[in-house]
Amino acid sequence: MTDVPALPVRPWLDATRPVEERIDLLMAEMTLAEKVGQTHQVANIDPDADADAIAAGRISSSLYASGPTGGNERDEGVLVGNIDAAQRHAVERSRLGIPLLFGRDVIHGHRTVCPIPLGIAASFDPYIAEQIGEVAAREAVVDGVAWTFTPMVDISEEPRWGRVAESLGETPVLSGRLAAGLVRGFQGDDPSEPDRLAACAKHFAGYGLAAGGRDYDTVSVGENTLRNLHLRPFKAAVDAGVMTVMAAFNDVDGTPMHAHEHLIRGVLKGEWGFDGMVVADWNGVGQLVNAGVAADLREAAALAIRAGVDLDMCGGAYLAHLEELVRSGEVELGLVDDAVRRVLRLKFRLGLFERPYAARPGASNAPTPESRAVALRAAQAAHVLVQNDGVLPLDPSAGSVLLSGAFVDEGEALLGTWTLDGRGEDVARPGAALRERLGDRLTVADGRFSDVTLQQARRADTSVLLLGEHPSRSGEAQSVTDIRLPHGQLDVLRAVAGLGKPLVAVVYTGRPLDLSEVLDLADAVLVVWHPGVEAGTALASVLLGDVEPHGRLPMTFPLSTGHIPTSTHQRPTGRLIRADVDHEEGRYIDALTYPRLPFGLGLSYTEVDYAAPTASSSVLSPDGSVTLTVTVTNTGKRPCREVVQLYFRDPVAEVTRPLVELTDWALVDLEPGQAREVTFDVQAEQFAYAGRDLTTRIDEGDIILLTGPDSARLQSVTITMKKDS
Ligand code: GLC
Repeated sequence: MTDVPALPVRPWLDATRPVEERIDLLMAEMTLAEKVGQTHQVANIDPDADADAIAAGRISSSLYASGPTGGNERDEGVLVGNIDAAQRHAVERSRLGIPLLFGRDVIHGHRTVCPIPLGIAASFDPYIAEQIGEVAAREAVVDGVAWTFTPMVDISEEPRWGRVAESLGETPVLSGRLAAGLVRGFQGDDPSEPDRLAACAKHFAGYGLAAGGRDYDTVSVGENTLRNLHLRPFKAAVDAGVMTVMAAFNDVDGTPMHAHEHLIRGVLKGEWGFDGMVVADWNGVGQLVNAGVAADLREAAALAIRAGVDLDMCGGAYLAHLEELVRSGEVELGLVDDAVRRVLRLKFRLGLFERPYAARPGASNAPTPESRAVALRAAQAAHVLVQNDGVLPLDPSAGSVLLSGAFVDEGEALLGTWTLDGRGEDVARPGAALRERLGDRLTVADGRFSDVTLQQARRADTSVLLLGEHPSRSGEAQSVTDIRLPHGQLDVLRAVAGLGKPLVAVVYTGRPLDLSEVLDLADAVLVVWHPGVEAGTALASVLLGDVEPHGRLPMTFPLSTGHIPTSTHQRPTGRLIRADVDHEEGRYIDALTYPRLPFGLGLSYTEVDYAAPTASSSVLSPDGSVTLTVTVTNTGKRPCREVVQLYFRDPVAEVTRPLVELTDWALVDLEPGQAREVTFDVQAEQFAYAGRDLTTRIDEGDIILLTGPDSARLQSVTITMKKDS
């Protein structure tokens, strides 16, 4: 009787053991080759062609994306069958049975696509962000996705940069809180639960400062500005438990981020204690050669592993060179072990060893009424009314309406950039949604403007003109030199406005645009971003007043391209902005300077009065708090959801500090005539900043607190920070 060979003992499979113990047990068994294999990620793994590499433990992860700038390229989608076939090679044929990790850019929805992240930011609502993450995770796991590459928390004041569409706005606090909401939504309290994914804060760091708004271009910034602006939302995501962080393509002051040991290994992993996994961006390791800091892939691999990049996305440098680099002594084994430990920690925490296979026979991830309800609420909350002379809301019971413009026939385009799995046929279109409400009082013009359109506009009581940019102009590798509307649209606007009829302009966009002429010619202007599957329903509900518009601008809209950068990052300078004549000011001799639409702006269908803020004490101690109170009153005839904003200014500090910086806000529902006292619990650490020596400090001295409906309409009260109070 021959003994049945005992199954290899794999104590790391014992899920009752602590994760760190399981990692120790597994790593003790791993060869150097197997360790290096865990640092290698491929794109679109092929269960047949890659079978032997998988079984040999040479592949750790695969992402599913249509290419290195996958934001706007559709692909054939994710095939769960492929994923499980590949997984079977890893789990059942490899020596150690380490499962593969599958990632995909599920950025603002999977099948139920919600507004682009800049639109999510316009909601100023972290709970909406959390719901979006939950719905997206629930749908993506059905396609075998275990890891998503979101939230993107790059801070930018550069509308020319196409990737502002994926960002959560220009301010650290807004971006950080919404990112934390998305992380909670995707990961939940226990990311090993079946309907959860690992999230990824990206792109670490400073990517939003690419020179000229040119994607991938160089970044010149000091560490003080990085710490006081750009690193903060990453810290918020890390504090929220984000499991992975992605390195950015750009350099920071000459050091490419994929080789930036100080910021990755020093700040992110060291100072912040991040114990998650750092993934390269697409061949970001290999691109160190292009950047001219590595002579070849071997040197690139050495630089990146020393910097603290744990997983080489779609590059191959680690697989090709790490083993030899360690054997030659040029790279310490400990650096590879740190990377492998983090990769395995992610896989253990995701429950991949217990539940490696994705297939759920009969499961569907098609949009449901519940998931669409989340998308609708998010789209409505993203609608920002930036001008209204009273033409809105439209009277649902009277008047004829012409719907025309570049987007009148669009479906898939309303999903926005980075919607790999969204489907055009799922989109509720504006025409159909308005038709449901207006019947034959609605005329939907042909998308191609002609004299017929003009005659239709002349006959209609009101025109709703759908303007803006196609999502192929936003997202990765889609930077522009001119933020005016795409060619031809202003001509259409002028023609329709020339009829002298009430005109509502609806702007679809992935970035702040130069809307000067739109604002001059239209009676009402709604900025709606790319709102997702419920685009039409959301628009109809806001236009007809079923829902009060309550979105706020998450980025400043400059007067023109020439005015970029313009944002709330503005700091005081030695030469003050002179008020010349009638509030004109002198930064340019050929134009005004101030933004056309300020950060935080958003109107409702009523009026809200803000009283001056009051503080419960004029003194704030480092461990104490002050209650700031502002009474807001709905003086109009319609309800509203007001976004009461709190900014601050530190007038005297070790370094120049922003003229206004958002530090808190409150979403407040007000019935007509209702007044509410809104209180903010103000803590000293809200005013902490990196000083000249880059250490975090809180100064004694005055802090000016400012409240209002946006960053340009503020009232202030001054408190004093005292250490010994
Ligand atoms: C892209 C993007 C990154 C994305 C990754 C995977 O190049 O920069 O945001 O998550 O590759 O598709």
